Amino acid sequence: MKIVIPGGTGQVGSVLKRALTAAGHEVVVLTRRPVRPGEVHWDGRTSGPWAETIDGSDVVINLAGRSVSCRYTPANLQAMMESRVLSTRVVGEAINAAAHPPRVWLQMSTATIYAHRFDAPNDEATGVMGGAESGVPRYWSSSVDIAKAWEREQEQAGTPRTRKVALRAAMVMSPDRGGVFDVLSWLARLGLGGPVAGGAQYVSWIHDHDFVRAVEFLSERDDVAGPVNLAAPEPLPHRAFMRGLRAAWRVPVGLPAMRWMTEVGAFALRSDTELLLKSRRVVPGRLLEEGFTFAYPRWPEAAHELARRRRGA
Ligand SMILES: NC(=O)c1ccc[n+]([C@@H]2O[C@H](COP(=O)([O-])OP(=O)(O)OC[C@H]3O[C@@H](n4cnc5c(N)ncnc54)[C@H](OP(=O)(O)O)[C@@H]3O)[C@@H](O)[C@H]2O)c1
Repeated sequence: MKIVIPGGTGQVGSVLKRALTAAGHEVVVLTRRPVRPGEVHWDGRTSGPWAETIDGSDVVINLAGRSVSCRYTPANLQAMMESRVLSTRVVGEAINAAAHPPRVWLQMSTATIYAHRFDAPNDEATGVMGGAESGVPRYWSSSVDIAKAWEREQEQAGTPRTRKVALRAAMVMSPDRGGVFDVLSWLARLGLGGPVAGGAQYVSWIHDHDFVRAVEFLSERDDVAGPVNLAAPEPLPHRAFMRGLRAAWRVPVGLPAMRWMTEVGAFALRSDTELLLKSRRVVPGRLLEEGFTFAYPRWPEAAHELARRRRGA
């Protein structure tokens, strides 16, 4: 198949490109700074010659968006919003204008679209959308607003010949340098992998092999459209998540961090505490209903496998 991945130069794109190329597919990545073979220039907001790569392709997987690992300043929030909405819009326009449009358009979204909650997991049918929770910082609604606008843009795109799926992905865990597993592992190995702010908040995650397999599954299944959660079936509280990570690295203890410490740490790392403190309890309702099986449904085994590959690398 010919697979086009706008925004495919980042962590998730690297995971997909590696796996899909190894499976024998032709992968084209759209990027603002093409340097490697298979990369084509686009600006992520206006049409251009790049649109020709989409015409005649089989699958489009749009990952473009300014990184969310940043301080949530008004300027950064605007960049997060615009980069997602505008890139989704032009991808939709390119698909609509194509003489031979792709069969399927997988559009990245995020598990962050759901509410901060502890009481029950969020699946696609019964999950509670975020943005109206009480007892959380008001600005936490910004990332939910961005996610909703991102999905709306795909929903509204007129692509009658192309099936549309929104990937509500949890944190994709891969052993790559600079990815979320790498950063958390680094903290754990320094002895800083303890629970944060009590550690009751849920962590949703997905192993990179399962992420790729779910993308392949959703590309092939002609009858699945709309939002789909891409998360392992067993999200777990942050405290247990960090315990599993420490066990994978054979680190016996992890210093707990209080909320104020995360503020300092997040400031130093130019990131935002919402990424650590929001309870993301998301489960793969539709994937399981459709018969998808996870190779790594549980975190302890997933963390061991990831740590083993990280050591090997
Ligand atoms: N990583 C995860 O676990 C995870 C989980 C759920 C959802 N997501 C979402 O999935 C997408 C990919 O994640 P990732 O971790 O691979 O992100 P990433 O490493 O930050 O990569 C995102 C890509 O988007 C492009 N981009 C950045 N700013 C842009 C802009 N202003 N206009 C157009 N393109 C821009 C960049 O490509 P160029 O610089 O090459 O143009 C970059 O390679 C993101 O939208 C992210 O929010 C990620």
